[in-house]
This record gives sequence, C-alpha cells and structure tokens, in this order.
Amino acid sequence: PQVCWLAPEQTAGKQKPYLYTQGQAVLNRSFFPCFDTPSIKFTYSATVKVPEGFTAVMSATSWEKQKDNTFIFKMSQPIPSYLIALAVGDIMSADVGPRSRVWAEPCLIEAAKKEYDGVIEEFLTVGEKLFGPYVWGRYDILFMPPSFPFGGMENPCLTFLTPCLLAGDRSLVDVVIHEISHSWFGNLVTNATWGEFWLNEGFTMYAQRRISTEVYGSAYTCLEAATGRVLLRQHMDNTGEDHPLNKLRVIIEPGVNPDDTYNETPYEKGYCFVSYLAHLVGDQSKFDAFLQAYVNHFKFQSITADDTLSFFLEYFPELKAEGVDSIPGFEFDRWLNVPGWPPYLPDLSPGEQLMKPADELAELWAADGLNMEAIEAVDIMAWKTYQLVYFLDQILQKSPLPAGNVERLSKMYPKISKAQNAELRLRWCQIILKNNLEAEYSKVKDFLHSQGKQKYTLPLYRAMWGGSEAARALAMETFSATAPQLHINVQNYVKKILGL
Ligand code: BES
Ligand code: ZN
Repeated sequence: PQVCWLAPEQTAGKQKPYLYTQGQAVLNRSFFPCFDTPSIKFTYSATVKVPEGFTAVMSATSWEKQKDNTFIFKMSQPIPSYLIALAVGDIMSADVGPRSRVWAEPCLIEAAKKEYDGVIEEFLTVGEKLFGPYVWGRYDILFMPPSFPFGGMENPCLTFLTPCLLAGDRSLVDVVIHEISHSWFGNLVTNATWGEFWLNEGFTMYAQRRISTEVYGSAYTCLEAATGRVLLRQHMDNTGEDHPLNKLRVIIEPGVNPDDTYNETPYEKGYCFVSYLAHLVGDQSKFDAFLQAYVNHFKFQSITADDTLSFFLEYFPELKAEGVDSIPGFEFDRWLNVPGWPPYLPDLSPGEQLMKPADELAELWAADGLNMEAIEAVDIMAWKTYQLVYFLDQILQKSPLPAGNVERLSKMYPKISKAQNAELRLRWCQIILKNNLEAEYSKVKDFLHSQGKQKYTLPLYRAMWGGSEAARALAMETFSATAPQLHINVQNYVKKILGL
C-alpha cells in the first residue's frame, strides 16, 4: 500500500493519473528492499521509466533524463530509508530561487511560483547562517495532489507539500520553513529509533522558530508558537496527560507501527525541551553555536537522545558541573521518560501584542449578552492569518457558545466563515461541530472533500463522531464518499474512529 496510485480524478488537473511514495515512518519496506530503520544510512541510485507525458522526480542530489522517458537519479549523501521518495505525474517546474524550483501540476504551477518566488532562498540562507552549510545541493518543492496526508514531508532535495499551502498570501510558509529546518535536524542528524522521534521534530520546531524569528521577528513567531502550544494542550486534554505517548522517549513494542504513535508531543513538548536547554545556556548566540556544533558533530549519523544530551553537557562543561541534568522537577530523565505537560514553557510574551486583541475579542463573543458595540470596535480585517487562527482556537476552547452567538459571528466575519485558507477552514469546521451548527455542515463536508491531510481529517471525524446524530450521519456520509481518495493510513485511522 506504500506506493500511492492516484486516478486522474484524485489530482488537481483531473486529466492524468499520479503516483507518489511516502516512506516515513516504516512504509518504504513495501517499496524496495531495505533496512527500514532510521538507524541505517546509505546512498542510492534509481532508474525510472515512465510513459510519454509524465515526469518522474525523486529525493536525489542529481537527475538526468535519457531517451525513452527514462530518468536516472542519484543521491550522493547517505540517508535513512524513510527519506527515499518518488513521484510521477503530469508535472512541470518553475524556478523560485538560485537553487530552488517548484514542481506542480500545470494548473497549479503559477500559484506555486507566486507563493514561493524569492522567499525560499532567504530561509535557506538564514538556516545556513544559524546551523551551518546546506549540504543537499538543491532545495526543490513538489506540490502534491490534495489527498497527500501531510502538510509537508522533508524528502531531501525535494520537499513534498500539500497544495493546501497555496493560500495566495504566503500565510502558511511556516510549514516550508519547518521542512527546510529538517535539512539539518532529521535529515543530517537523524533519530536512531522512532521512539525518539522528538530528536527530529522537536529540534526542527526549534530551528523553524529560530529561522522565523530572524525573518519575521519574535512577535509573529511567538504567536505561531502559541498556536502550537494550543495543539499540545488539546492533545493532552484528549488523551490524558499521563498517556504513555505523552513523553519524549516512547516505547514502541515490536509489532507496533511507529505511525500509530504519532502525536503533538514530540513536536511541541520537544520544542519546549530544546527551548529549556537554550534557557539553561541563557545566551541565544551561544545556543545557536551549540546547535551548529551539534549538527557538525553528528552529521550523517543516527543518534539517540543520550548522545544529544551528553554532547550538550560536554559542550557546556560549566553547566555539567552545576548538574543541570538533575535540577529537581526539570531532570533530563523526567523530560524524556515522564508523560505530561512540559515542566518548562518558553516565554511567548513577545507575541502578546498580537494575541491580546484576539483573546479579548474571543471573550466578547463568549459572553451571554453580546456587547455588539465593543465587538464592532475591533477590526479584524488587518489581522494576520495566525491571529485569526489563534482567535478561533480560543472560540473553540470556549465552545459551545451561548445560543445564537456562532451564527452571528459567522455573519459578521465572512473572512472567517467563508475563508479559503485551510488552517482557518479547519478551525471553522471544528467550531461548527462543537456548536452543532447544522446550517453550516456543508462546509465540513466540502472541506473534507477538498483535501485529505491527516491533521485536518482526524480531528474533524473525532468531533463528528463525538457529536449529535446528525453529525455522526455527516461523518458516515462524508467518509463513504471520500474514502477512496484518502491515503491508506488516514483511511484506517478514520475507520477506527467510526468503529468500522
Ligand atoms: N516529517 C514530518 C511528516 C511525517 C511525520 C510524516 C511522521 C510521516 C510520519 C514533517 O516534517 C512534518 O512534521 N510536517 C508537519 C509540518 C508542521 C509541523 C509545520 C505537518 O505535516 O503537519
Ligand atoms: Zn517535521
């Protein structure tokens, strides 16, 4: 099931079929024979012959097209099996920077170029300044069909992205910055086991926010980080803080699919732990230098958290002498092995100026008798997408709102209730369901028909299944119509939610 064969209807252009692979975590073993563990790295080459009218692309350092539509790919740096990826389709490319181009179906290529023209190089340059040389040669992007289950996948030299990111206003670039950050954390220095996935994702979240801070400033970056914290809160509320997956070092028993352990903890609790290490150091430029030394020391290797933390203590002998690994309540061992809310949270107060108006507006909308005068005095037209996202998360958290409030909110802010931006649509759909706003159920259906990203799909099915009879019926109806379009993993997770 690992090689995904899509019918023409499942593509954006709906004319020609499409094929792609998704290796992470352990799917590539059904694509080619391999040691399918992140602890082993190797180079590869591949010869791919495709029919006339199709192009093949891979996560490779070089490629050439020979006669008979045959493509030869070579990856000259050692990588783990999960980073090998192939896509074949009716795709074309456009340059967006000196070492970057976007690939997309012809009907999306213009939007793709417009979204990223000029910005990718800036992210790469800042990344290199912070974390050291970019060793992969090119950084290209492939826009996937709408059923692609992730926001992004950091296949080396060629990141795969969901077309949901084509928002038209660059508002969702944090995902690209995230995948670029994996060029150092994950792709160069790799978790040796999926039980320590936070080494990939926690460090990458930290690196992403470092790049974002350099490019967009700390106010915006802290706002984005606050929406990440909300996701962690929601996840821990849903699963219970003590859930064994809510620790950074997860025990994956033989026979358990690492994908089934996927959740927000390695991302956002991992981010908090790396931020805590930075806090111990106290000086940002010293910590940046440490990250660069860490990448340089472990590049092309697969490592464990013990390797990371020993290196940290060796690098800062004065911290080691102070015994920072065993400060009561903040023991490294506790960070790794005890489930629950992070013992340390980085200070996001630089984002306050952007969050406060959103918090206040959410308060107003959650009130019993609406103070329309105060509400109308707030102009959300100038708000950035992440401010609206943050606002909607607050509304969701306070939902169900008093009767009638959500209907009024919907009418008052078409910018939200009729949004095309996927992050806004997700939140609006969640609000519809939590408030059981049947009049807008069609928006949930439309959104689930338009894309198949796992992080959008599963929360909506969970909300429908936990809702009214009508919501459950909507879930069943939507799933039977969209199931064939969903990635097999996502299909199976939805089936589980719906008890099928
Ligand atoms: N490597 C992950 C995607 C992934 C994780 C695929 C586990 C398969 C198994 C990728 O880098 C990622 O984290 N993507 C996020 C981006 C977000 C955190 C900015 C996504 O897809 O939502
Ligand atoms: Zn990631």
